[in-house]
Amino acid sequence: MSDSPPAYSAAAGAPRKPVLAILTVDDEQRNFRGNRQNFADLISTGERLGFITYVVTVKNFRLKSATLPGYTYHPREKAWVRGRFPYPDIVYNRIPQREDERQPSVKKKLDQLAGRPELLLFNRRFFNKWTLYKWLRASRATRKWIPETRRLTRPAVLSGMLRKYSFLFLKPVRGKAGVGIMTVRVLSEGRRRYRLQIQEDQGSRTFRYRSLKTLWRRVCRESRLQGEPYIAQQGIPLATAGNRRFDLRALVQKNGEGRWEVTGIGARVAGEGSITTHVPRGGHIEEPGKLLTAAFGGSRGLQMLGQAGEAALKLARQIERSSRSLLGEMSMDLGIDETGRIWFFEANSKPMKFDEPHIRKKSLERIFQYSLHLYRTKKKKSSAHARR
Ligand SMILES: Nc1ncnc2c1ncn2[C@@H]1O[C@H](COP(=O)(O)OP(=O)(O)O)[C@@H](O)[C@H]1O
Ligand SMILES: [Mg+2]
Repeated sequence: MSDSPPAYSAAAGAPRKPVLAILTVDDEQRNFRGNRQNFADLISTGERLGFITYVVTVKNFRLKSATLPGYTYHPREKAWVRGRFPYPDIVYNRIPQREDERQPSVKKKLDQLAGRPELLLFNRRFFNKWTLYKWLRASRATRKWIPETRRLTRPAVLSGMLRKYSFLFLKPVRGKAGVGIMTVRVLSEGRRRYRLQIQEDQGSRTFRYRSLKTLWRRVCRESRLQGEPYIAQQGIPLATAGNRRFDLRALVQKNGEGRWEVTGIGARVAGEGSITTHVPRGGHIEEPGKLLTAAFGGSRGLQMLGQAGEAALKLARQIERSSRSLLGEMSMDLGIDETGRIWFFEANSKPMKFDEPHIRKKSLERIFQYSLHLYRTKKKKSSAHARR
């Protein structure tokens, strides 16, 4: 890390460049938190598209100050450099952890930023699986894709759901990357009919119980370990290709006109013995068209991919409407069941990097295309204001 002189002073007469700040939190050892590769890629894409882009931490974000201390990346020296940057027009929230975003000082600053007229903040907060469920079930347009879900507060919820469905997913409402996920299956025979499977780092542990009471006790113990409320969700029998379950990850972003668009859809194939499809848990990336074709045949498979994209768009619009905040992107986990029906599992407002190169490049550019749209709208708005 080195210090550089104040980097940017607009040349006289030159039109001012739009300024985008990538927002994160401080880190004692590494200056700031978050995926550095992602931030560096954003900075270089921003530069290419005519933006001034830098990383700023919540603590360093002084409202209404003319410049802010931040960080930029110099690819040639492969170095992060400290500097002072112009006050941003657009703030892209990439605070990486829910725990950080929950800190009172961080929450307060985010509230202040969301309320400032001179800047536009997008992707204000993480989603919560229970809230998403309520939002999407409440709308007729999206209801059909949402598995039935209950808050797992009492044994009666578990027994009620198991009377309706012989396969359930139990998930922490604020989980990620499969941590704390369990499944329950009711077997049709045998004395120990309840089979509980708990996701581990790799693979899973399996237990069998004779009674709901002992099953409940175990579920409680495991969920307490996560320190998070849980939901119980109708389990979807995922489609398979070559005997492996798979699901889809859609990246949905706003474009240069401010409209939602599907940037790309990837697929994840479950690892051996894993109950989820996450890559860190032994899953792997595949081409969705290939898997869907293998599962459902050529023309039907491709048609389903198109339908999944359309569903993702409608879901994103509804999520944004219900969230009552400005969103620029989200990733979405979608399942296709054995009969070809589409299901929504969750959406994430801090999407992980997509490893598919064609999705990756487009996804970086879209952030700035959308930001340019915001910038222009903002300028129009403030000059209308000034005329009044
Ligand atoms: N109701 C469900 N039925 C079938 N599979 C599911 C269900 N819910 C989740 N999964 C599987 O588990 C994965 C992780 O679940 P998700 O809700 O995305 O939690 P996380 O936040 O841990 O990623 C999904 O991508 C999907 O493969
Ligand atoms: Mg997920």
